[in-house]
Amino acid sequence: MKRVIFNQKGGVGKSTIAVNLASIAAYKGRRTLLIDMDPQCNSSRYLLGKEALEATPTILDFFKSSLEYSFYPKPDAGFVHATRFDNLAVIPSHPEIGELQSKLESRHKIYKLRDTLKNLASDYDEIIIDTPSAYNFFTQSALIAAARA
Ligand SMILES: Nc1ncnc2c1ncn2[C@@H]1O[C@H](COP(=O)(O)OP(=O)(O)O)[C@@H](O)[C@H]1O
Ligand SMILES: [Mg+2]
Repeated sequence: MKRVIFNQKGGVGKSTIAVNLASIAAYKGRRTLLIDMDPQCNSSRYLLGKEALEATPTILDFFKSSLEYSFYPKPDAGFVHATRFDNLAVIPSHPEIGELQSKLESRHKIYKLRDTLKNLASDYDEIIIDTPSAYNFFTQSALIAAARA
């Protein structure tokens, strides 16, 4: 199951809901991945503590890698970090993802996250995406990635 927590308004509880849904699923034994796409990195911090600020690679590296050609691309699972909680993993966000937005848009990378989630789907029972408080490339990517085919 893929879920996006989305609302254009800030401070309405998106990250709180994302982290709680992920935690409950993991506690029930479901293999859970939270993807943080908000440059404020709140849900990354909830799950990784202050280490979230130094965590690498992040969703920034994930999108950067989609803009670069590499002979040995990092596998999709290489962006996932374990947390101290059983069954709960995270792809942390980064404060600078916004800087990539126009490049990602002009290079038509809107389906990149959807394709990656297809590759990761067999590893997780629940994938929950926390989004920025905006309707932009990152939220559109998340909504497309979680839409039923
Ligand atoms: N159900 C709730 N009742 C009261 N306060 C809440 C609730 N959910 C979230 N909050 C508080 O509201 C603030 C914003 O929540 P947050 O999840 O960061 O919002 P968003 O991700 O939409 O910006 C936080 O301080 C959080 O602790
Ligand atoms: Mg938030």
